[in-house]
Amino acid sequence: GTSAAGGGGDAAYPTENITFVVPFSAGGPTDTVTRMIAEPMAAKLGGRIVVQNVEGAGGTVGAGEVARAEPDGYTVLMHHIGMSTAPALYQNLDYKPLEDFEMVGLVTEVPMTVVARKDFQPATLQDLVAHVKANADKVTLANAGIGAASHLCGLLFQSAAGVKLQEVPYEGTGPALTDLVGGQVDFMCDQTTNTSGQISAGEVKAYAVTTPERVKSLPDVPTTTEGGLPQLQVSVWHGLYVPKGTPQDVVTKLSEALKVALADQQVIDQMAKLGTAPVAADDATPQAHRAKLEEQLGTWAKILADAGVKAS
Ligand code: MLT
Repeated sequence: GTSAAGGGGDAAYPTENITFVVPFSAGGPTDTVTRMIAEPMAAKLGGRIVVQNVEGAGGTVGAGEVARAEPDGYTVLMHHIGMSTAPALYQNLDYKPLEDFEMVGLVTEVPMTVVARKDFQPATLQDLVAHVKANADKVTLANAGIGAASHLCGLLFQSAAGVKLQEVPYEGTGPALTDLVGGQVDFMCDQTTNTSGQISAGEVKAYAVTTPERVKSLPDVPTTTEGGLPQLQVSVWHGLYVPKGTPQDVVTKLSEALKVALADQQVIDQMAKLGTAPVAADDATPQAHRAKLEEQLGTWAKILADAGVKAS
């Protein structure tokens, strides 16, 4: 972007297009949430937001690119819980979550669903656990790469079920869901922001939601606790990041625009239809986001270590 005279801040920001990097394929849950808030944020900022998908390695390729981008407010990263699991999963991660980014604010926390191709034989979550244990060498589990939310949920499922399955990685759960609907892969754990439509259309079989309570927009899908797998609980929190060193007044403008987007009735309604909701205004702030990331980094490092997961 144009460097403001005297540096330190950019009163005219934005003076050119802002790129929102989504570290997963177009059409997936991260892309969906990003495109929902991009328009009302752009309106508030008085500029244009262009969404760019930078796939690979469970979201770590896109995150790394933003960590090394110009800290001028023109490159923003939308990322999720994977920001807090990657350090425990990758030996040579090329960014440090807490040091290489400024946090802008939290966006939403999305429930996950355990879904399978519609003609998959198991009828309930209990049947699924029994089936995968008896057929561990044949059953295929889709995810969006090591560090993706679907990968994390798949790890927790396998750990809870006491089984090791063949994992099929995709560049995002958008394409993974396409293959699931096509019957090319057996099952996966993915966010309601991606699976709700196909569940309601009967194109995939939904065994459970991974939240303590049922999801209002998916009233017939039991919780994992109801299905006998109470330890399989995970929700995918999302936040916006800019490179470390981005001027504070730019970070503040982005956080204010995020709050406006999260209060936008269309955003609220779209999120509700897809099983989620915006975070409270106080959480769409750098302070709340940093606190969440710090807590989650510690939480997942311990859970993954306890599950015997080693960084590779
Ligand atoms: C996506 O947007 O494709 C998902 O977030 C991938 C994942 O994290 O499972």
